[in-house]
Amino acid sequence: MRICVTGGAGFIGSHLADRLIELGHTVLVIDNLSTGMREFVNEKAEFLEMDVRDEQLFTVFDTFKPEIVFHEAAQTMVPASMENPKYDCDVNLIGLINILDASRHVGVQQFLMPSSAAVYGDLDALPLSETMSGTPSSFYGLTKLTAEGYLRIYEHAFGLKTVCFRYSNVYGPRQGDGGEGGVISIFNRLLQEGKDLTVYGDGEQTRDFIYVDDVVKANILAMEYPELTGIFNVSTNTETSVNDLIRRFKALSGSECTVHYESPRVGDIRHSRLNNEKAKDVFGFEATIDLDEGLEATYQYFKGQ
Ligand SMILES: NC(=O)c1ccc[n+]([C@@H]2O[C@H](COP(=O)([O-])OP(=O)(O)OC[C@H]3O[C@@H](n4cnc5c(N)ncnc54)[C@H](O)[C@@H]3O)[C@@H](O)[C@H]2O)c1
Repeated sequence: MRICVTGGAGFIGSHLADRLIELGHTVLVIDNLSTGMREFVNEKAEFLEMDVRDEQLFTVFDTFKPEIVFHEAAQTMVPASMENPKYDCDVNLIGLINILDASRHVGVQQFLMPSSAAVYGDLDALPLSETMSGTPSSFYGLTKLTAEGYLRIYEHAFGLKTVCFRYSNVYGPRQGDGGEGGVISIFNRLLQEGKDLTVYGDGEQTRDFIYVDDVVKANILAMEYPELTGIFNVSTNTETSVNDLIRRFKALSGSECTVHYESPRVGDIRHSRLNNEKAKDVFGFEATIDLDEGLEATYQYFKGQ
């Protein structure tokens, strides 16, 4: 199939593009390289360095004629959204609308994009389910929640089939330092450099970490269901504290690094664990890579950098 992956030079998008190419699809990657890396783009993909807000996107879609769009490009950093809400809104909403309009214009069959656990805010009724309505505590969470509404209305009003995945905290090779699952890549880099670790808060805050290959698997599986629509958590439904992560890292690396504890950051949520029943029931997705296995693969990747 002809598939466009926006953000395909980034962490998740580049792994997704790799897998799509392995499966024999024709892939166009659109990315402005703001956080993505040119070398992450699969050499068999067509690559266009372009902003998702660019009006030229219509011409690009007219020529490429994508049948499926994975819209992974986004401003992904919670703290950046608090410092510059206007930019966050511009990329994550105006950029999204541009891609949605271009997709509608060329009759895209399926439009898939990530939302985030950040849409739930600080709800303490864990595990968090798709039917719960949260109050995001960051502008990033708010633009993701609003994006979900845009997808719903584009589908109802214009018949564009849309799927929205609320990824929990994704980690793995190629991850940058800024995004949501970033704590694992940050610790990896610091450990390789023999530096101390800094934790914001007491370290007992928890996250639902999911390995990037499992996230890719959810996206690929969804393509087998052309009628699939709606919002799905993509998660492991397990909670791991930052202190637990540090213990695992020490065991992996054999390093006795020093840990500094600082004040929690504005907009950060305390605990997170996402119910994964709906994705399992509706399209048979289940994460299979356990944390130790994923951490080992990620550690080895960063060691080779
Ligand atoms: N990593 C996680 O834990 C996580 C969790 C939930 C949701 N998500 C979502 O998954 C998606 C991918 O995130 P990621 O972790 O791979 O982040 P990333 O920063 O590695 O990838 C984002 C990509 O989008 C590109 N991009 C940013 N702004 C752009 C613009 N205006 N025009 C064109 N390209 C642009 C960047 O250059 C980058 O390559 C994002 O939508 C993010 O919000 C990630």
